[in-house]
Amino acid sequence: MKFFVDTADVAEIKSLAASGLLDGVTTNPSLIAKSGRPMLEVIREIADVVPGPVSAEVTATDHTTMMKEAHKLHAIGRGRNDNITIKVPLTPDGLRTCKTLAGEGVMVNVTLCFSAAQAILAAKAGASFISPFIGRLDDIGEDGMVLIDDIVQIYRNYPAFKTEVLAASIRHPMHVVDAAKIGAHVVTVPPNILRMLFNHPLTDKGLDAFLADWKKTGQSIL
Ligand code: E4P
Repeated sequence: MKFFVDTADVAEIKSLAASGLLDGVTTNPSLIAKSGRPMLEVIREIADVVPGPVSAEVTATDHTTMMKEAHKLHAIGRGRNDNITIKVPLTPDGLRTCKTLAGEGVMVNVTLCFSAAQAILAAKAGASFISPFIGRLDDIGEDGMVLIDDIVQIYRNYPAFKTEVLAASIRHPMHVVDAAKIGAHVVTVPPNILRMLFNHPLTDKGLDAFLADWKKTGQSIL
């Protein structure tokens, strides 16, 4: 399972990338707004830090302008890690843009997916990633994980579909675990939740005991 971090905070990304466990980054217009920084500058910095896919989202809603924005965003990766993945919304224009970009060899992440039918369309449009939003479905009383399960099952029926299921809108560590049990290819996780994955009180307690016992021996490995 690949781990992406869902943020436009470059300092957070640098710190998490140091763990060696980060495979990519997703951003969206809300996360860029939260950073308070110019989008192109932020994407450029992230693309330098993380060699894996960095999703940058178009903000136009019509195909022609989406294509222009996509080309500008994709060009940021050139001469760097060539890792800019264009994020488009799951709309007819978004899918048309996805199909065109995929034909040009550009990776596309189709976002704002809330149904299995939408995910089928994204795969047919040649998306590299489909982003079903688990948390936002849970928020309205649906079960977001059922959607992940449906999409994984459907894609398995069609080996010609190369689209990876990118579980998004993750709200807690169990979303990550459940998505992994189902077989989602990728999770994109906010930094605070990604850090939670490392923690267990018995790990801390056990380490304290090991270190206390080790101290009693008076030994040193080095
Ligand atoms: C995915 O790429 C989105 O940026 C993100 O996961 C949305 O999460 P939210 O529902 O917490 O805003």
